[in-house]
Amino acid sequence: MSRGGHMRIGSKTSLLFLACCLVSALASAQSQPSEWDRIYRVLTSPRCLNCHTSTDYPRQGDDRHVHKFGVLRGQDGNGVPGAMCAACHGAINNAAAGIPGGKGWHLAPLSMSWEQRPGVAMTSAQLCFMLKDPARNGKRDLNALLEHNSHEPLVNWAWQPGAHPNGEPRQPPPMPHDAFVEVFRQWVAKDGPCPAQ
Ligand code: HEC
Ligand code: HEC
Repeated sequence: MSRGGHMRIGSKTSLLFLACCLVSALASAQSQPSEWDRIYRVLTSPRCLNCHTSTDYPRQGDDRHVHKFGVLRGQDGNGVPGAMCAACHGAINNAAAGIPGGKGWHLAPLSMSWEQRPGVAMTSAQLCFMLKDPARNGKRDLNALLEHNSHEPLVNWAWQPGAHPNGEPRQPPPMPHDAFVEVFRQWVAKDGPCPAQ
């Protein structure tokens, strides 16, 4: 009799314990950043934003200061005569001069600006809807965006950003490239959900 009583208490206790675990597991699942949250952190890193500006000039460095030498985007993002991007930026980083480089180095078009105003990144929802809008993203569907993020040389550059002229290394985005591609793939598999605006 007393044995059975203990048993009952024991199984009630373990049930209670299970319920606790479940509640805490659910709570922690909720506090995990979503795929899009993690993507947003990469897209808003200075390595990406400095080319995805809303202005007629690029930005430089982690403090995102206006590009020196009065560099301007020009009609197609390649600069203006006398200060073309390619006059300084090659297809690879120039370690001796501290000038970053990548194949076809130029500014993203204004339609692909990821800033809500000069120097300030779009909110998470703004950027998510912009990125998926074929009228602004170069007529890309989700798979084309995944392809771009996987193989585009100017995207890859962000993870091999080289060093500043003073030799100080530039910081890559906040997760490795393969992890970024994987989380982007998972987001695309869910049909690219965006946060509420
Ligand atoms: C050197 C400048 C430069 C850098 C750095 C750069 N981009 Fe871009 N990006 C461009 C240009 C130019 C285009 C337009 C390409 C086209 O449509 O053919 C573009 C377009 C894109 C697009 C297409 C859709 C859209 O809405 O913008 C994506 C996605 C993208 N870039 C992702 C990234 C990510 C992620 C990073 C950082 C890890 C990054 N880019 C860094 C220049 C850059
Ligand atoms: C007169 C030479 C020169 C010209 C022209 C030039 N750049 Fe630069 N650019 C540099 C140098 C040097 C740096 C490195 C600055 C540093 O790290 O302190 C740089 C850095 C950058 C960066 C910063 C990368 C980062 O994340 O910190 C971007 C973006 C950039 N340039 C884009 C452009 C674009 C786009 C053009 C053409 C519209 C252009 N540049 C034209 C010399 C030039």
